[in-house]
Amino acid sequence: MKGIILAGGSGTRLRPLTRVTSKQLLPIYNKPMIFYPLETLMRAGIKEILIIVAPDHAGDFLKLLGSGKEFGCKFTYEIQDKPEGLPQAFVIGENFIGKDNVTLILGDNLYEDDFTEAIRTFKSGGRVFAKKVKDPERFGVVEFDSNNHAISIEEKPEHPKSEFAVTGLYIYDNSVIQKTKALVPSSRGEYEITDLNNVYLKEGTLDVAFVSGKWLDTGTFESLHEAIVFARDRELASHN
Ligand code: G1P
Repeated sequence: MKGIILAGGSGTRLRPLTRVTSKQLLPIYNKPMIFYPLETLMRAGIKEILIIVAPDHAGDFLKLLGSGKEFGCKFTYEIQDKPEGLPQAFVIGENFIGKDNVTLILGDNLYEDDFTEAIRTFKSGGRVFAKKVKDPERFGVVEFDSNNHAISIEEKPEHPKSEFAVTGLYIYDNSVIQKTKALVPSSRGEYEITDLNNVYLKEGTLDVAFVSGKWLDTGTFESLHEAIVFARDRELASHN
């Protein structure tokens, strides 16, 4: 299993914080944001990690994370020239992925869960992780039938069919590269991870699991603040 951290994008919603640095380098209490998704992958046993960054602050990521040796990992870097959607990670990362399966985590997502089992038991298809949220319209939203089977996923729907958001960690088999290449851009001009998930869903190979612990997407000032408070509480609790 290879790992990809997608830390591209321009972080426009967090300006002026992101005018001189990348969103994923902002501090979350005592660590840069990207340390959290990195720790999630490492905790799950992934050691070969591709870090995809925007051109503007690429050097800062390299300076912060280096070769990966210090972390007991091997890091590879690629540039996402334009933020044209999350699935681009699988095209940019095609050579890195090679013939392996891949776990993608978004560089601004914080998880409390341990994904070791989810990754160890993964064989083929796709596996995504849903979480009940108060503001589903901000996310990809999963609709379930009466037997709790996922039947549809919609990207940022105006009228969400459930309160379950698809969170920012995705496990896919190697067919993700070819599936991504067949996607067409959405009306907002981006390749959508939701479209990719729907390809797996239609094929009958998408497993929708659930996040049991805390999950935070730090894309807004409110969620950024919440993440800092959460990280601080957890850090202080670990010393008691
Ligand atoms: C992206 C995905 C969305 C997913 C979310 C998780 O949204 O498009 O389906 O629920 O990540 O963080 P974005 O944060 O890029 O708006």
